[in-house]
Formats: sequence, C-alpha cells, structure tokens
Amino acid sequence: MRDIDLKMMIREKTIVLWNKKITSPYYNIGIQCGEGFSSSKPGQFLMLNLQGRHPFLRRPFSIHRLIKKKGTVVGVELLYKVVGEFTGILASVKKGEPVDILGPLGNGFLFKNSFRRIFIVAGGIGVAPMLFFALSLRSKGFDLCRSTLFIGGKGQKDILCADTFANMGIDILIATEDGSRGKKGLVTDLLNTRLKKNVADIIYACGPVPMLKQVARIARLDGIECQISTESVMACGVGACLGCAVKAINSSNRYMHVCLDGPVFDSANFDIS
Ligand SMILES: Cc1cc2nc3c(=O)[nH]c(=O)nc-3n(C[C@H](O)[C@H](O)[C@H](O)COP(=O)(O)OP(=O)(O)OC[C@H]3O[C@@H](n4cnc5c(N)ncnc54)[C@H](O)[C@@H]3O)c2cc1C
Ligand code: FES
Repeated sequence: MRDIDLKMMIREKTIVLWNKKITSPYYNIGIQCGEGFSSSKPGQFLMLNLQGRHPFLRRPFSIHRLIKKKGTVVGVELLYKVVGEFTGILASVKKGEPVDILGPLGNGFLFKNSFRRIFIVAGGIGVAPMLFFALSLRSKGFDLCRSTLFIGGKGQKDILCADTFANMGIDILIATEDGSRGKKGLVTDLLNTRLKKNVADIIYACGPVPMLKQVARIARLDGIECQISTESVMACGVGACLGCAVKAINSSNRYMHVCLDGPVFDSANFDIS
C-alpha cells in the first residue's frame, strides 16, 4: 500500500454553492473550495462531512467537475445518488450552509497520448467521474470524437448527463435494463457488440461491481487495456482505518486499499471471480 501525499491533501471548512435535484434520487451539488483543488485529477474523490448534521463519518464522492471563475478553481461539483442516511441528509442541505471537504484523494485515471480510440463505460452514478475525465481529455487536445461512452442504468431516470456528453462530440450508446431508453439490456452487451466492429486502445469504467467485473472479463478476453474505478465502504479515505480493502490478484499484496491504491485500478489486478 502506498503512502498518502499529505502535501496534496486539503481540508476545508466551506459552504454549499447550490444543491439541485436532477431527477429523484439523483442530485448535483456545487461546493466552494480554494485553488488547492486545481491539482485534482479525474477519478479522484473527496471525503465530505456535513458538519454536525450527520453524526457519523465522512463519505466519499467523485469529483464530477471543477468549477472555475476566470480560469481559477473556485469550487467542486459532485453528482450523487440518495441511497441512505448520509445522502438523504445531504439532499436537504441548502445554498450557503457549511460543509467540510477533504481531498483530492486517490489516484485517478491514467491516459497515454498514444491512445487513438477510447471506450468509457458508466453504470448509473458511475458516470460521476467521467465528465471531469472527458473535460480533461479535451483540454489535453484529445479529439473526443475518437471516444465512445456506453451509459447503462436500470431505467431512463438512471441515465445521467447523456446530452452533456453528446454536446461534447462523444459518441454515446445507451442501454437500460427495462428498455425505457436506448437498447434494452445490459451496458456490457452494448460494449461487446461494439467491440466486434471497432477496436479500442483502452476501456475506462466506473459503476456497480458486477458491471466492472464483466467489463474486466471482456477486456481480458479481447486483450484490451482496462482501468476500472471501484467503490468500497470508506471510513477515513486516507489509509488509516484499512476498511476499504479489496482482494488483489497479480500483485505482491493480497489486498489493495481503494482509498490509497485506487479508486482506479488496472483491471488486470481486479478479482473478477
Ligand atoms: C471512491 C468513491 C467515490 C464515490 N463517488 C460517488 C459519487 O460520485 N456519487 C455518489 O452518489 N456516490 C459515490 N460513492 C458512493 C457513496 O460514498 C455512498 O453512496 C455513500 O457513502 C452512501 O452513504 P449513505 O449514508 O447515504 O448510505 P448508507 O446508509 O451508508 O448505505 C446505503 C447503501 O450504500 C452502500 N454504501 C455505503 N457507503 C458506501 C460507499 N462508500 N461506497 C459504496 N457503497 C456504499 C451501503 O452498502 C448500502 O447498501 C463513492 C464511493 C467511493 C468509495
Ligand atoms: S478508507 Fe480508511 S484505509 Fe481506506
């Protein structure tokens, strides 16, 4: 397990800039932050604390986008799904109310200039880090027309940000399990079908673990490089509690820690059993 770079980690007591419902149970929140967060990399996350409104620990959320004013980072935007107590309380937080953030944390997606064609797979709220990632690819000069984004969800309401990505010139393919939007079925079926027609240099994926395992299997069978952003329950986010361990393969360690070694992993090290 690697050590955390404390110089890069910032803790800020700050305020909420906005908190809007997109469509239940999904919300978008803007949180003010200092320029220190400009070092954030796509795929990294922050730990959020509701300053007394929630009695328990901080919770991890991916950076959805950096908010900039005249080129300077003034905030971070998060996309979140209400799933339990913390996120339920978060949904009631109003503009101007105090919160506390710790970040940027984790490693982030790796991109090589040699990549000509990339596939991105997002399941449900797994789309959250992918906007920041796509914006960063564009700022590096990567032509987003050379990327395909596969978005999957249970139904239409679980398909988030599709128009935003389409407006950036990304080729979008959608699958829903109930067939209410896009192709009926699993997003990984769409990926399989497209791989029969087009090759990709790399697949990036974020979403539920069963989806990530299937993406990793497909990548392994097709011999394609693959990076997956995985989740685990996190108590500290900084390597202190060891509660975020996941089983590792092809690695000298038996366990990897999502907060320090991830959340983005080479799928070759990911246990797909
Ligand atoms: C690196 C990372 C990035 C994340 N990014 C986002 C994001 O951008 N948007 C978003 O909506 N969510 C994200 N999550 C998941 C988010 O942290 C959990 O949904 C949240 O902590 C749930 O808190 P709760 O009290 O509302 O739910 P709880 O009552 O604690 O739990 C409700 C359900 O969510 C599961 N859960 C709880 N905590 C986590 C967790 N840390 N990871 C996964 N499942 C959990 C529980 O097992 C349970 O099934 C991320 C998690 C990680 C590890
Ligand atoms: S969340 Fe505590 S060690 Fe990873």
